[in-house]
Amino acid sequence: MKQKVLVVDDDAAILEVLEMRLTAMGFDVIATSDPRRALEATEAGRFDLALLDLRMEPTDGMRLMEGLHARQPRLPVLIMTAHATIQTAVEAVRRGAFDYLTKPFVRDELRSKIARTLATRRWARDRERLLTVGQALASSGVMARVLDSVAQATVEATDADRCVVFQLEQGRLVPMASAGSPPTAWHRLEAAASAAMDKGMPITMSGAAEGADSGTIVAAPLVVQRGPAGALVIETAARLEPGEDDLELLALFSSQAAIAIRNTHDLESLKSGAVAALGRMATQVAHEVKNPLAGLRLYVRHLEQHLVKVDDPAGKDLAGKIAVTVDHLTSVVAEITAFGRPPELHRMPTALHPLLDECLELARARRPTEGVEIITAYDSSCPDGRLDTRELKKAFLNLILNALEALEGAGRLTVATSYSAATGTVTVTIEDTGPGMTEETLSRAFDLFFTTKPDGTGLGMSIARSVVNLHAGELTVSSRVGEGTRVQARLPLEPVPDPARPSGAGA
Ligand SMILES: Nc1ncnc2c1ncn2[C@@H]1O[C@H](COP(=O)(O)OP(=O)(O)OP(=O)(O)O)[C@@H](O)[C@H]1O
Ligand SMILES: [Mg+2]
Repeated sequence: MKQKVLVVDDDAAILEVLEMRLTAMGFDVIATSDPRRALEATEAGRFDLALLDLRMEPTDGMRLMEGLHARQPRLPVLIMTAHATIQTAVEAVRRGAFDYLTKPFVRDELRSKIARTLATRRWARDRERLLTVGQALASSGVMARVLDSVAQATVEATDADRCVVFQLEQGRLVPMASAGSPPTAWHRLEAAASAAMDKGMPITMSGAAEGADSGTIVAAPLVVQRGPAGALVIETAARLEPGEDDLELLALFSSQAAIAIRNTHDLESLKSGAVAALGRMATQVAHEVKNPLAGLRLYVRHLEQHLVKVDDPAGKDLAGKIAVTVDHLTSVVAEITAFGRPPELHRMPTALHPLLDECLELARARRPTEGVEIITAYDSSCPDGRLDTRELKKAFLNLILNALEALEGAGRLTVATSYSAATGTVTVTIEDTGPGMTEETLSRAFDLFFTTKPDGTGLGMSIARSVVNLHAGELTVSSRVGEGTRVQARLPLEPVPDPARPSGAGA
């Protein structure tokens, strides 16, 4: 694509010469002596460079430059003057010109100044974009925030009116971040995003077919290892066709956004991995401490009895205090080890619906529910299962408590079951119309000790998941801010043979 140059001079002869020379240099030239036409031309399309005469009637070059900059803020301008003095040059540059040219043009000065202007403009843009991208990537690992800064940087470095970053989530394109003016036609942006993801490369959708007000949309896919994870989409004002530069920029930004997404995923799994490792370490330490504690408890008992025998009440008192402390330590250790994988489930015939009712009762006793509508929708075809009643009670109680805590006394809580005879599994759904979770909360909800509540311990979700997993089931959460949260446990009612453990072999 040819670069576009605008030339404005009230001297017809100079205009003609410049038009010829610039065309010969390979530019697409619009030459006019009418400043109004020049302004109209910038409104209709974008230029890469403008050459403006300083002395013109009725407007001078400086005023015209300001008018052009109001329409295209980053347009590089060269001011042409027959009376170049240091003052005029300084004044021109101070008011936003890139440089000035003296008339009549000295051989090669025209060519070299134009080349320098275009190159410098590129460099300025490159610098700007590197800076913004760098800042975006250095910002916190929270993906939403990284994508926000990528969207912002994209709008700032291109001439786009707006930018939206879409991410593919469970087969749906979700707008994750946006910058610039709010989009008017989401469906067009979304369509462009999915087209770019299908093609695996940037695409351009012209607004011409849509009517006068529709701008051009450019979308670039965000490619993470597993394939497209979303798309970065920009929309320009109706009069601005995105140039080669914009496409290049978009490709650059989309690759940065993809890196941001990947880094954030990596970071997140690292974080939960680290937390899980910490949890395992705590469990191991607790395990190591458990046996010596049991020994200690035994010795203290003996000591206590001995001191009674030798009639030493003060000594017996002390031994009693030691026993109480040891008991306390033992219970702390028991709590910690309870997190580690209990070696076996204690399965017994269990009717799930009474169990869920009991959890609801327990939860009701612990959290206010006056303003909460509680709906139970049980699948009557669900048979009894062989399940660990105690553990499951703990899991469902935690999930129901979370829902009631989210509802804060107003809204709807639904507890439902649905049984599949074909797979022998029941799906328990606990759903609330509470405030939902942010993306960050959702991604960390199962981390040990992750909580957003002032008096929370951050254990409920991890307990629930580990109990369901022990039953060879699966616990999933879907949540949207402002809409609510749905937690689903898929639970086989009968023990599933563990392929890692040959049947018949002891535990
Ligand atoms: N139904 C829900 N609605 C909104 N946010 C939820 C919901 N369930 C869980 N969360 C979020 O997940 C976080 C972790 O939940 P989890 O049950 O593990 O811990 P907690 O409820 O904070 O503390 P506790 O250990 O007392 O249960 C919560 O702090 C909350 O931010
Ligand atoms: Mg909880």
